[in-house]
Amino acid sequence: MHDISKLIEPDHVHRSVYTDQEIFDTEMQRIFESTWVYCGHESQVPNPGDYYSVRIGRQPLIMLRGADRKIRVLYNRCPHRGVQLCGSQSGNVGSSLVCSYHAWSFRLDGSVKSIPLPAGYAGTRMTPDNPDCSVKSVARVDAYRGFVFASLGAAGPTLLEFLGEARIGFDDMCDRSPLGEVEIVPVCHRVIQHSNWKFFMENQLDALHPSVTHQSTGVAAARVERAMREHDRTPPLYYHYLSAFASPFEKWDSVQTVGFPHGHGLLRGYMGLRPDDADTKEYVAQMHAAYGEEKAEGFLDRNIHHVLVYPYLSIQSPLQQLRCLRPLAPNKTLSEIWHFRLKGVSPAIYQRALWYFNLVNSPATLINADDLENWTRGQRGLESNGGDWVSFHRNFGGDTQEGDVTYSNNGTSEAVMRNQFKAWAQYMGMGS
Ligand code: FES
Ligand SMILES: [Fe+2]
Repeated sequence: MHDISKLIEPDHVHRSVYTDQEIFDTEMQRIFESTWVYCGHESQVPNPGDYYSVRIGRQPLIMLRGADRKIRVLYNRCPHRGVQLCGSQSGNVGSSLVCSYHAWSFRLDGSVKSIPLPAGYAGTRMTPDNPDCSVKSVARVDAYRGFVFASLGAAGPTLLEFLGEARIGFDDMCDRSPLGEVEIVPVCHRVIQHSNWKFFMENQLDALHPSVTHQSTGVAAARVERAMREHDRTPPLYYHYLSAFASPFEKWDSVQTVGFPHGHGLLRGYMGLRPDDADTKEYVAQMHAAYGEEKAEGFLDRNIHHVLVYPYLSIQSPLQQLRCLRPLAPNKTLSEIWHFRLKGVSPAIYQRALWYFNLVNSPATLINADDLENWTRGQRGLESNGGDWVSFHRNFGGDTQEGDVTYSNNGTSEAVMRNQFKAWAQYMGMGS
């Protein structure tokens, strides 16, 4: 086993933390299979018997709505000989889970309901009163504003303690609905990145890369915006979504990033999403009516681009988007990119967020593709013998610590990556 303490220092980390199978397995055990991990939104399983298949670390699980309407998270494993009970990504199991191999059946809380010819077990250890005959539940399940999490470990902080300041991501998303709630759009973009999960988490707070990596898209969108203005036309907001990527370095350096305990963090807003078209005016009036003007304006003016829940979630709350990582191997990561609808708003407001969702994530966009290309090349570079260390020196020594919050007044600082590795070291057993 590696001596993990030799692999990371405050200003750089050893490449093996991105490439080594043994380190990856330890991460799965000590981080993903120990802490709170996002499963899904409660609107993904609205009816009793609805399930959604989820992976936490290396464990296949199902998020399942019970007859009592409670959401549980169970291991997707039959207690008889181990066959997975649900074979699809999602569906409805009816009133019970029935194994496809020998028809053992289970209630929606996982408890065993019936075993064919049960007399065959008389006098053995495997009688229905043995808890081993029931489907195993995860240690803890909890939800925050409709977002469901599970922890495979029984010990450790509560969900609220774990989320800490990063709760603002969920609050910001839900508070933008006049009803205070969102519902899932039940299809997601599923993308496999051929790189370590950390590339994604670092990139989300990397304000130095957009004007380089996304230059071709940003410059092209800015050109269209200019041409439309020259012809006295107002460019739709979705061109601005893309042209903002090509902002100058100086602008990106002024967009603050913030690091929280547990490796969480946020990137402040840079797009200015308060247009004044008729649809927006109607929406703002709805918000004022729901919350009162002062509170509603506070919600609408929150200056957030996205919030990161380390080590797997990016919540882009102003546009109701959420990206969740499921690491599969040191060099392979699944990301699920979800989209939510604000309850109680007009279709036009939903369409505006949908434009962004597809413009940055769909198979047709260059935004996500350009990021993925960088990370694939990054993984190949780190797998080579061309150097052992990955640099996080940018603005090192200039970080400000206020209580347990870390930030830098330079938005392009690598302070947030350093904050992520501080949490990584703690999870991996290096102490604080
Ligand atoms: S493996 Fe499930 S009933 Fe036999
Ligand atoms: Fe990017």
